[in-house]
Amino acid sequence: MRKLIFSFFLLFSALTLHAQQHNMVIQADQIGAQIQPTMYGLFFEDINYGADGGLYAELVKNRSFEFPQNLMGWVTFGNVKLMNDGPFERNPHYVRLGNSGHGHKHTGLENEGFFGIGVKKGAEYRFSVWARGQKQRIRVELIKNSTMEENQVFAARDLEIDSKEWKKYEITLRSNLTEPKAHLRIFLTSGGTLDLEHISLFPVDTWMGRENGLRKDLVQALYDIKPGVFRFPGGCIVEGTDLETRYNWKNTVGPIENRPLNENRWHYTFTHRFFPDYFQSYGLGFYEFFLLSEDIGAEPLPILNCGLACQFQNGNPEAHVAVCDLEPYIQDAIDLIEFANGDTSTTWGKLRADMGHPEPFNLKFLGIGNEQWGKEYPERLKPFVEALRKAHPEIKIVGSSGPNSEGDQFEYLWPEMKKLEVDLVDEHFYRPEAWFLNSGMRYDSYDRNGPKVFAGEYACHGRGKKWNHFNAALMEAAFMTNLERNADIVHMATYAPLFAHVEGWQWRPDMIWFDNLRSVRTCSYYVQQLYALNKGTNVVPLNMDGKPVAGVEGQDGLFASAVWDAESGCYIVKVINTSNKPQPVELSFAGLGKKESLADGTITTFHSDNPDLDNTVDNPTAIIPVESKITIEGNTLKTEVGAKSFAMYKFKKIKK
Ligand code: AHR
Repeated sequence: MRKLIFSFFLLFSALTLHAQQHNMVIQADQIGAQIQPTMYGLFFEDINYGADGGLYAELVKNRSFEFPQNLMGWVTFGNVKLMNDGPFERNPHYVRLGNSGHGHKHTGLENEGFFGIGVKKGAEYRFSVWARGQKQRIRVELIKNSTMEENQVFAARDLEIDSKEWKKYEITLRSNLTEPKAHLRIFLTSGGTLDLEHISLFPVDTWMGRENGLRKDLVQALYDIKPGVFRFPGGCIVEGTDLETRYNWKNTVGPIENRPLNENRWHYTFTHRFFPDYFQSYGLGFYEFFLLSEDIGAEPLPILNCGLACQFQNGNPEAHVAVCDLEPYIQDAIDLIEFANGDTSTTWGKLRADMGHPEPFNLKFLGIGNEQWGKEYPERLKPFVEALRKAHPEIKIVGSSGPNSEGDQFEYLWPEMKKLEVDLVDEHFYRPEAWFLNSGMRYDSYDRNGPKVFAGEYACHGRGKKWNHFNAALMEAAFMTNLERNADIVHMATYAPLFAHVEGWQWRPDMIWFDNLRSVRTCSYYVQQLYALNKGTNVVPLNMDGKPVAGVEGQDGLFASAVWDAESGCYIVKVINTSNKPQPVELSFAGLGKKESLADGTITTFHSDNPDLDNTVDNPTAIIPVESKITIEGNTLKTEVGAKSFAMYKFKKIKK
């Protein structure tokens, strides 16, 4: 028994008190592969109410009365009729308000917004409507949710309608209250008949103050990552529930009033939860996506449908476009390049100019197909590649390796992508913690002569619960040393999904959560940001006992990578300790010239004592990276990396 206790004591001491020191050597004189400016980016999909109800700042749900239940999201009172011969061909429905008759004080309607309408005290809201009616007047109000006992009006304006022809009217409302779940109420205050269409409410204070704009706090979070690439519009929505409902970029450009509504494939989750009011207004369309890419300094990467509807949902070959009928889909791709880059004298280039952007968007990358699989995919991709190479050899084409990180389909598709000579292959991996821990060497053995890698969707789905807890983010940070070390072949990486409304999510974890007024940057966000803001310009070899530090045997759960940043003249070393014990680590910068040295630098630590903790909208800064100064003696730093910690060291190279 005593012996047993003693052995336990020895084991305990070994694990805690005397953890072995690890010596990591950074070859400071071996400035290696260039890290692409596109390396760390963002992937946007309209899932979890990411667009309508999220990033797209429109506050009115079903503004054009085109949901299949035309009045969904609205409550009407008095004498309201639904009509369908309105001024916008592709959105023909509108409402006719008439004399309220007996028993009703007013005729009007009330919109519930997306989980309510979030308004802030003192902030201004731009109300606009297309209307027809002579000498009519409406009152427009922001009110407390009408299900509450007493309605409370906290903004109200009258609007005169002065024409019997359809015309756009606009007024601004200022809210005297902060309320996450307001409603918009409109009612007739004159006698007579009035038609209303495309009823819209936006905060005036959108990102860059744009009308038809985006939610400022959410774009700010994207901007603060300084992403290198922006992939859009999805995901499964590119494929659609069926081809009819695939994302069709041509329907998303031009005047917003005439962009037809589309079903959102995410109105059904994989676990069969149903969101009957989840549609795409396309108010956030391809023009807005290109503009956003430009605003946040990222290369736009649109993904187009390759003639396959979502293969998870459509086993029947008839559900897809026959290879011989792909021509219109290929033309869509060619036209998109014209829309983004074409001269303003071209059809699509002119539309871009008419929409407000005569300068080209400088599109360089185009993805064909999302998570496709089987021979159906390469046989459809082939004619796209042939046509695009001919018409636009300057565009880099992104193909797909299917929905899994390994396995039959993955093994089949990679060689097919090589045969087709696509430029990048989009890999997806939503995997558990163990996968992330064991994949630290994934890209070390990849063929350097084929297409480059785009890790287009990934996230650690850890501990049986798909939450954004700290430990999942730590696993991602550990795995990302592998992306960084292999930056010669990994040219892009984007975490997924990006956004989720706390009341309307279909998928988790996600990078940024929000409600109607607040948003929160998750631990995974901070990991992405630490990498993106500190990606450097070149890989530098970092070894421990002659091996890359990638969580392999004998490395005690440590992961590390190093880069040189030519712009700031700094070495940046990222060390992730995934184990439960603090670990002494020595960082030696080898190969510096006789007259070179390192200045004292900084250490940024990202850690939580509770690996199950996450940031929430109520407590958004529970876990954030903390930066402090650190002293280095000579070219060696003796340090300790805390248990379950991400530590990032930055030292400037100086002349002695
Ligand atoms: O990111 C959520 C979904 O995951 C994407 O729509 C799809 O590409 C993948 O299956």
